[in-house]
Amino acid sequence: MSQPIIYLNGAFLPADQAQVPVLDRGFIFGDGLYEVIPAYGGHLFRLDPHLARLENSLAAARIDNPHSRTDWAHLLEETVRRNHDGTGDSAVYMQVTRGVARRDHGFPADTPPTVFIMCNPLSPLSASVQAEGVDAITLEDIRWQYCHIKAIALLPNILLRQTALDEGAAEAILVRDGLITEGAASNVFMVNGGQITTPPTGPHLLSGVTRELVIELARNHALICHETDFDASALHQADEIWLTSSTREILPVTHLDGRSVGSARPGPVWQRLYRLYQDYKQHLRRTGLPPV
Ligand code: PDD
Repeated sequence: MSQPIIYLNGAFLPADQAQVPVLDRGFIFGDGLYEVIPAYGGHLFRLDPHLARLENSLAAARIDNPHSRTDWAHLLEETVRRNHDGTGDSAVYMQVTRGVARRDHGFPADTPPTVFIMCNPLSPLSASVQAEGVDAITLEDIRWQYCHIKAIALLPNILLRQTALDEGAAEAILVRDGLITEGAASNVFMVNGGQITTPPTGPHLLSGVTRELVIELARNHALICHETDFDASALHQADEIWLTSSTREILPVTHLDGRSVGSARPGPVWQRLYRLYQDYKQHLRRTGLPPV
């Protein structure tokens, strides 16, 4: 079977010869966007509004637009031309990702976007669908609400983390309907009067493995740890704030929204938990087993 011809980063080539590196942020993070543009009889349909939406998506995702409108039109037309048999209709799929870089939520420096374009046959509605129509069902709109799934579709997390980085902060702590949920890539703890609180697990945060261990270590050492919702004003009044994740362990936050947290130094409860965490790690290093 003859292979469709696709466009990838400057070259037209058979689809089975096109490869994207595994570190592409589209693969790693879902950090990209796309358009689908019909072509009838080989002519792109409503090209300008599609390119305008692409420009808006790129700007909103803060991905550099690698091409002018004229260049985009040329690449899309050329992809159709190379695949079109002169009769049927097609759907052109185009995708732009933030490119290939070492995995890190923050935007990579000096990384060109990945550009991919393909062209698939497009069929008109069948006679039976034209005659009978189709069935549909209603469902709750759950998009961007299943944060307990450790999905690779992380574009929102990336944009939030990058906004924090742009402001000179290490992490964005997220608020949904007034309540603290989690960080862009971490869980959140606060300490008040020596007692620890972290939001309860549910669909709006990832049940962090580090979070679980921190709760376990705290409770095993007679520290009180609540799993209770709290709002942003409670967080602003906390004595201590920590972020937990597999890569950052227990990270003390000493400034929130430009204001000091407690004494503006890592607090005593953090010192305690951090020591317990290091001991836990050390035991694993020494024995290959977690402490009992
Ligand atoms: N992320 N919440 C989110 C949204 C996360 O991405 C992470 C970790 C956590 C903490 O989970 P754990 O303690 O199991 O690492 C919470 C990883 C480290 C990452 O994306 O790099």
